[in-house]
Amino acid sequence: MRVERIKLQSFDDTPDGELFIAEGKKNIPFEIKRVYYINKLDNSKAVRGKHAHKKLFQVIFCVNGSFAIDFDDGTDKQSICLDSSSQGIILPPMMWHTMHDFSKNCALLVLASDYFDESDYIRNYDEFLALCA
Ligand code: TYD
Repeated sequence: MRVERIKLQSFDDTPDGELFIAEGKKNIPFEIKRVYYINKLDNSKAVRGKHAHKKLFQVIFCVNGSFAIDFDDGTDKQSICLDSSSQGIILPPMMWHTMHDFSKNCALLVLASDYFDESDYIRNYDEFLALCA
């Protein structure tokens, strides 16, 4: 399974900031139940993620700076660099992911299809591979 990119509509013709828009049914393939963001990612050695979700869908945007994200569906591996505020990815369930190489002032915005549930996380890679098989 490939991770799809999502492109926001951008209005950048104003001197007072850029506006980026995603409209639910057109761009986000699920009902959003939770939104969160992660900032103060000034440590380029930071690693986040290293897990997969059993059922959760997420859309992840890099609203400032850049970072790399590696994906593994148990068979194929893929790596994407998110370095544009209008670009994001749709992260499906059962996709092992690791985020790294955060630039200074990098900030992530995450839209999620469900409420927080620790039992939806697979945090052990061998367990992930066993569930993929
Ligand atoms: P998460 O953002 O899923 O991890 P990462 O950014 O490393 O991919 O979660 C980080 C930690 O925060 C994890 O231990 C679970 C906890 N957490 C909550 O308690 N509530 C939440 O809504 C989220 C998203 C995470």
